[in-house]
Amino acid sequence: MSSTSNLPAVSGDTVSALIASGAAALTAAGVAFGHGTATAEDEAAWLVLWRLGLPLDSELDPGTSESIANQAVAHDQQALVATLFEERIRSRKPAAYLTHEAWLQGVAFYVDERAIVPRSFIAELLADGSIDGWLSDQTCEVLDLCTGNGSLAVLAAMAWPEVCVTGADISPDALAVAHINVERHALKERVRLVESDGMQALPGPWDLVLCNPPYVNAQSMSGLPAEYRAEPELALAGGTDGMDFVRALLKDLPARMSPQAVLVLEIGNEKAFFEAAFPDLPVFWLDTSSGDEQVLLITAQALQAWAEGRRWI
Ligand SMILES: C[S@@+](CC[C@H](N)C(=O)[O-])C[C@H]1O[C@@H](n2cnc3c(N)ncnc32)[C@H](O)[C@@H]1O
Repeated sequence: MSSTSNLPAVSGDTVSALIASGAAALTAAGVAFGHGTATAEDEAAWLVLWRLGLPLDSELDPGTSESIANQAVAHDQQALVATLFEERIRSRKPAAYLTHEAWLQGVAFYVDERAIVPRSFIAELLADGSIDGWLSDQTCEVLDLCTGNGSLAVLAAMAWPEVCVTGADISPDALAVAHINVERHALKERVRLVESDGMQALPGPWDLVLCNPPYVNAQSMSGLPAEYRAEPELALAGGTDGMDFVRALLKDLPARMSPQAVLVLEIGNEKAFFEAAFPDLPVFWLDTSSGDEQVLLITAQALQAWAEGRRWI
């Protein structure tokens, strides 16, 4: 744990002053971002607004945003904000583990240390319709493999009201968090949660498989900032080249997909490892806000042909 004693306390008598002071404190402390925010300013705004029970900026028109920024904050509330920043800096936990809330595509999810903080780029593809063209009238059974807190399963059910979604994970702890989110979004009738090691308890056939698996390679794992080490290691570590889970998945999946199915797979910054592990596999790289090297799509036909050693055109 890091000491906060030599850092200036977060202070300010308006919302905007607290955000500026909080951002300066986060920067001075050298905390790591990447769990829903990318900058000290965004993270400070999130923490201040959450602690004061105010709506997040993105939900507001500019006039309301400005009046909230100028709002006076009472001394006891200022103290609560300062304590939250101290905890963030001392514990090095991602902010979402302190607020127990993470947002994906404008949808709020519960999260705690039992599950990784959701931040999958597949969420963007579900919200912007990028996957829709790969589906058909027959698309019915959707699997979110490695569901974690269930966020992608919930977003898939929201995106396609006519499909049935299964969220699966090896971790009973993560599934307990996923149950909270499925209930929170009133999707118990349409989202089923299953404990499974890879595809073991998931015979299918599946029409669409979404998967954000553990894919961080061993060298990267050893250099992760504390914020990432606060998350379950099982959710991140993918073995020496990061591809242990993906290797097993690509072996097991062909027999469990319907003929027109597709797999949408996130691999983070591991494209080089992916291509080295699966050099002949024909994939489509999908565009997200992080570029076109993090999420890929494979058709069942291509996967089947690849598994049988046939060339697929
Ligand atoms: C990167 S997290 C993704 C969580 C969630 N889909 C998201 O995007 O926030 C990977 C998840 O895979 C799960 N996992 C790890 N090994 C697994 C396995 N062999 N079978 C099923 N799930 C596994 C972890 O428990 C973790 O919840």
